[in-house]
Amino acid sequence: MTGSDGLSRASDVHPALRTPFCELAGVDVPIVQTGMGWVAGPRLVAATAEAGALGILASATMTFDQLERAIDEVRTRTERPFGVNLRTDVDDVGRRVDLMIDHGVRVASFAQAPNPALVSRCKEAGLVVMPTVGARRHAEKVAGWGVDAVIAQGAEGGGHTGAVPTTLLAPSVVDAVGDRVAVVAAGGFFDGRGLVAALAYGSVGIAMGTRFLLTKESRVPDAVKERYLATPVTGTVVSTAIDGAPQRVIRTDLVDRLERAPWVGRLPRALANAHAFRRETGATLPALLAEGRAMRRSADLSWPQVIMAANAPMMTKAALVDGRADAGVLPTGQVVGSIDELPTVAELIARIVSEASAVLWRLTGTGGRGSVGTT
Ligand SMILES: Cc1cc2nc3c(=O)[nH]c(=O)nc-3n(C[C@H](O)[C@H](O)[C@H](O)COP(=O)(O)O)c2cc1C
Repeated sequence: MTGSDGLSRASDVHPALRTPFCELAGVDVPIVQTGMGWVAGPRLVAATAEAGALGILASATMTFDQLERAIDEVRTRTERPFGVNLRTDVDDVGRRVDLMIDHGVRVASFAQAPNPALVSRCKEAGLVVMPTVGARRHAEKVAGWGVDAVIAQGAEGGGHTGAVPTTLLAPSVVDAVGDRVAVVAAGGFFDGRGLVAALAYGSVGIAMGTRFLLTKESRVPDAVKERYLATPVTGTVVSTAIDGAPQRVIRTDLVDRLERAPWVGRLPRALANAHAFRRETGATLPALLAEGRAMRRSADLSWPQVIMAANAPMMTKAALVDGRADAGVLPTGQVVGSIDELPTVAELIARIVSEASAVLWRLTGTGGRGSVGTT
């Protein structure tokens, strides 16, 4: 199992950590590194897979060709299973699914609800289907389509997020669909205590974004990681001013200015960003317009909101790729305030497994078998 660095000995790992998710995803430990746009590249994903957990490549911010190269690169770094995160509102989503099938990707993670046809196509090909949901009714909807698992992301989570906190969402999603679907809890997790708490709610594991962003292998520039590390638990805000949908980000002067500006004031920036994103991803104008129309229908957005939605990817890229923390947007979970160092992925996963095992041994009255002291 984990622990080439000796942080966790296999004999000390509590058997309760071998959950049904391990079998489903083909991993050793029930921990997911989520598919964060501009962050979750091949290096992070392969490091996670090698450490025994499930790494998910972010493809929402990649062209089709970039995704193909990224999958190939993960394959050269590891033979272990991994996943790919997809947007469902892009016109080439079917082609991307075919690519994943051809390359033997194990898990299809969806940022928004997929549709029944897409779920069937993935499942027929043997992909594990795992959309992210932020509300109980969304979990019920996708469970009805036959998905294998859901990531139930509570309000404290990073990026686009719902209104219900993890402590309420996880048990309610487990109650609603846990008999049919593997529920992975997300939003606010960073250590072994959280993993045990998630298991207590009936989840089969945890998914973490911000915690993996703040590791040595994440591709985010060091200066930007420092900005995250300096952010307190109260230093985030959920804003709709970036792309029309509630998104949790670090509260910066730029975000405050966007919040104050009327949408007409934000329009020139949105249009410029839409153009830049089109160049970046190779999307054609008709494809973007079709996507905009689909978004209007599915998310009930006005055209100004759709245009603003083009903002998010480029503003996030300015910070997370180009390192311009003040000129861009920094999606984050509130958990950022509980993180103060940048471990390697192997250290992080070994530590979480070790802490969770120690807690479980203590709670089950068999204390002393854990490889670390109780937390
Ligand atoms: C920088 C960043 C980018 C993200 N991008 C995506 C994305 O492209 N697709 C997606 O499904 N979720 C995305 N998310 C949400 C995460 O996948 C995950 O569900 C969330 O971070 C969990 O909460 P936590 O940050 O408290 O761990 C993003 C989150 C962050 C922090």
